[in-house]
Amino acid sequence: MRSKIVAGNWKMNKTLSETEVLVTELAAKLPDTDAEVMVAPTYVNLVGAVRYLEGSAIEVIAQNMHFAESGAYTGEISADMLLGIGIETVIIGHSERRSIFGETDEILAKKVIAALEKNLRVIFCFGEELEDRKSGNHFNIVSDQLKDGLFNLKPEVWSKVVLAYEPVWAIGTGETASPEQAQEMHTFIRRTISNEYDDSIAENVSILYGGSVKPNNAQEIFSKPDVDGGLIGGASLNADDFIAIIKAI
Ligand code: 13P
Repeated sequence: MRSKIVAGNWKMNKTLSETEVLVTELAAKLPDTDAEVMVAPTYVNLVGAVRYLEGSAIEVIAQNMHFAESGAYTGEISADMLLGIGIETVIIGHSERRSIFGETDEILAKKVIAALEKNLRVIFCFGEELEDRKSGNHFNIVSDQLKDGLFNLKPEVWSKVVLAYEPVWAIGTGETASPEQAQEMHTFIRRTISNEYDDSIAENVSILYGGSVKPNNAQEIFSKPDVDGGLIGGASLNADDFIAIIKAI
């Protein structure tokens, strides 16, 4: 059974004291929900967030990690470092990692394998650029991203994989994919996985939508049968907005 998930990707926002304020407010206001709720603060505030959220149902997750076990990788973080502070889930392949930090499909595939080998859960992000959507090439792009990033995985590790479809043109732009566009792509993603693996893996994987999800559009997007939740950027930085999005699921 796939789970519903609402995850807040804080990106490079919030100091430690701001992190404390936000997670404390979220924990206090968290509604009863059958969805998994996650927040992804920046690295240096992960330990703090884990402590502040002790006893809360909100999971603290990481925004990124390196594929190597350890070594001379200045500025990087390993899977063991995340595990060592109680982190069990990591986002990999966010479009900002791809476009700003040059992470290729090959690098991302290595990261996914490294995370899964350590039994971390992976939220794998992918999505097309505006030109791809305009030229009608978006399905090909997404299918290639899935193939390059994930289709070398053994079927049994798919229970630790969550997908996040984030069309780049909708990230931080205020422009959202319509609920129909999200549903259409999520159906395509499931069909692509089913063709490569089988129906059971395709049906059981959670597929989140990300890109300008806000309190006023969340419910409509989440109402689509193949949308299992959201990866939320800007609106996850405000407790009331994030709580409203959680309520929408
Ligand atoms: P926004 O919700 O700010 O568009 O960001 C989406 C995102 O990139 C989540 O990872």
